[in-house]
Amino acid sequence: MAQLKIVKYGDSVLRQKTKEISDITMEIKQLAYDMLDTMYNAPGVGLAAPQVGVSLQMCVIDVSPNGKKHPFILINPKIISGENKIELEEGCLSFPGIFELVKRYDKIIAEYLDLDGNINRVEVIGFLAKAFQHEIDHLNGKVFIDYLAAWKRKNIEKEIKKRKKGGDW
Ligand code: NI
Repeated sequence: MAQLKIVKYGDSVLRQKTKEISDITMEIKQLAYDMLDTMYNAPGVGLAAPQVGVSLQMCVIDVSPNGKKHPFILINPKIISGENKIELEEGCLSFPGIFELVKRYDKIIAEYLDLDGNINRVEVIGFLAKAFQHEIDHLNGKVFIDYLAAWKRKNIEKEIKKRKKGGDW
């Protein structure tokens, strides 16, 4: 397994719509394991392929506490339905140090392929449901600050510009 470089907000790959994965090759499997490795070594509970510069529909998630591992590897994932929106604080590995309240579904049904190419349909709730929505957004070129009020987003963009100048982004 290898550590991959995580791209930060401002990189155009984060705004691209990703390509569906038609064939789960050895390279795709390797990418999934490398993404998991990268996520476990970063302060995050999810990582989407565009965040490591790869514009494909795959993301990894693990929200289990206390170092217990229960990873999800989602290929071509889709949200089928959602209910009961709630607001929770959220961050993103492509936005280090930035945390904001985002309103998302508390319970969703999602469909995805696993690494063996099997279709999985799952109902997930709470923090895991939030992580699914955040990561699947990445595959559509969407990031969490898109949900914020325009003035808040502008402030964040300003802060990022400042941090870029200071070499801290
Ligand atoms: Ni993110």
